[in-house]
Amino acid sequence: MGSKLEGDVYYPSEEVINQANVKNYDDLYKRSIEDREGFWAEQAEELDWYKKWDKVLDDSNKPFYKWYTGGKTNIIQNAIDRHLRTWRRNKLALIWEGEPGDVATYSYHALNREVSKFSNVLKSMGVQKGDIVTIYMPQIPELVIAMLACAKIGAAHSVVYGGFSVEALAERIEDAKSRVLVTADGGYRRGKPTQLKSIANDAMKRSPNIEVCICVKRTGEECYMENDRDFWYHDLMGLPIASANCETEQTDAEDMLFILYTSGTTGRPKGQVHTHGGYSVYTSTTHRMVFDIKDEDRWWCAADPGWITGHSYIVYAPLINGSTVMMYEGAPNHPYPSRWWQMVEKYGITILYTSPTAIRGLMRFGDAWPKRHDISSLRLLGSVGEPINPEAWKWYHKIIGNEKCPIMDTWWQTETGGFMITPLPVTPLKPGSATKPFFGNEVGVVNDEGKEAKAGEEGKLVIKNPWPGMARTILNDEERYVNTYWKNYEKQGWYEAGDSARIDKDGYIWVIGRIDDVIKVSGYRLGTAEIESALVSHASVSEAAAIALPHELKGNAIHTFVILKAGETESKELAEDLRNHVASEMGPIAKPETVKFVDGLPKTRSGKIMRRVLKARALGQDEGDLSTLEE
Ligand code: WT7
Repeated sequence: MGSKLEGDVYYPSEEVINQANVKNYDDLYKRSIEDREGFWAEQAEELDWYKKWDKVLDDSNKPFYKWYTGGKTNIIQNAIDRHLRTWRRNKLALIWEGEPGDVATYSYHALNREVSKFSNVLKSMGVQKGDIVTIYMPQIPELVIAMLACAKIGAAHSVVYGGFSVEALAERIEDAKSRVLVTADGGYRRGKPTQLKSIANDAMKRSPNIEVCICVKRTGEECYMENDRDFWYHDLMGLPIASANCETEQTDAEDMLFILYTSGTTGRPKGQVHTHGGYSVYTSTTHRMVFDIKDEDRWWCAADPGWITGHSYIVYAPLINGSTVMMYEGAPNHPYPSRWWQMVEKYGITILYTSPTAIRGLMRFGDAWPKRHDISSLRLLGSVGEPINPEAWKWYHKIIGNEKCPIMDTWWQTETGGFMITPLPVTPLKPGSATKPFFGNEVGVVNDEGKEAKAGEEGKLVIKNPWPGMARTILNDEERYVNTYWKNYEKQGWYEAGDSARIDKDGYIWVIGRIDDVIKVSGYRLGTAEIESALVSHASVSEAAAIALPHELKGNAIHTFVILKAGETESKELAEDLRNHVASEMGPIAKPETVKFVDGLPKTRSGKIMRRVLKARALGQDEGDLSTLEE
């Protein structure tokens, strides 16, 4: 491993090294940088193609890079179809446990039947290649089936996280111009049924372009179904049109697979566009190499499929790699804080991938809960979503991993499709650092002019090259794609991530956090703009600002500042009412911790709210450069 590394370092054991799919990071990294296209061609060879590509990377129209042009593949060809011709046909693809304790399992064969049937249902509803179907569901198998069915027929899906609410859903339906919505009556969370269909009903009132709404019956709670618009999933799946035979559409490598919205600095959420070919290659390669995937593994990514983590690492990458995927519907501590450990034991989970927030939340309940279960099947652990504090890392390593499971702290984004900075199992680890770039990637920490920061110095995180999993554009808004990610380092051709970071003497990357107006609450990404517009949509509010302040469990919490309309009076009740209003418009995760009534907000002369100043004041820190502050 060469010279000694600085700081708190955890070296991999012999056992981990011996079984690792990739044993030498440095050599392969060097090769992947010297011949990036060669590396990515080799990885693409691992997959099936209807027709091989003509060109690995087409960079003739920067920054609109294209990968595997001329190639034909549908992600389903690799995630399902190819397994049906091997022994994996009868391997479990999905093990699902509902919060109440109900269980469902699907072999690859069974999954294929359900996906084919639903593909035919969608076709019978007029869904065609290129259409965007919005999916708003709890964590149930039908969510995965609906996503895969869209992909199979060449339609794109737009999954809206089931924890979002009316306005967030309506806005996303409208932006995608979806005609078809797939939803459910509800799901279970902390022992209670949620009311998804009634939120969907309100959203459909606000964005009337939905012509067909397909609803899964999960909880059996009563809900309003509109004649000729709303249909029960199980009714349609019982009809003769829902045949279990369906040809997979032979899509082009660059055809749209899905869009997924991210919250941005201003205005509407951005629909990140991902495509069949590059995304298939990138997600499956990162999953196979970083999590050292073997056929015997039972893989559990405890995220929600409604976010990119779930798209890439619950659904697509593990299925392409022929893994058995675990999925759980509900809260980690329901009915007891041992729920997860009980499932690890019951299903023999070998790899667990989750977020620092979940780890901190479970750590709070103490060591006795995990110790009550035999979780020795675990051989690798993962973390994603925000920086992991060393204390939580060490607890995870010692108590969950029994000091034998390396922790893969993976840095990436909705925009990147898959892991960008990450260790491999053989990488010496430093708690809190995502360590090194994945193969093919060159990462920099730079100042505004693009000059590299010195070792240990903070700067802006950039990626210096294209990669196959990158988002191709923002739906209907190419200009915004260029301005958000590529404008500041146009000369260099670098991708700007929106995070700050530092790189230490050993070349280890330490991500610090967002530097734009994105707030990470419990690892979930929210835009200040969306929270502020939810506040302003309340009858009493004239202006609002939202900022993030550190929070022990959630990483960050939302704090808001509100200017009331003339004639309105401040009160505790109104503050409470405003918090609830944000929760019902956006979703419970967006509920502000505090609402503070103010007479004015710090603004630049051009009228932009200076959230940085609000934050510094709240933390009692130096307010920094105030030269642009309005009088
Ligand atoms: C932002 C992207 C990628 C899947 C989930 C989040 C933060 C993500 C890490 C990590 C430090 C991290 C960054 C990034 N982030 N992973 N391992 N260490 N920060 O996707 O919702 O698009 O959010 O999450 O700030 O920019 P996302």
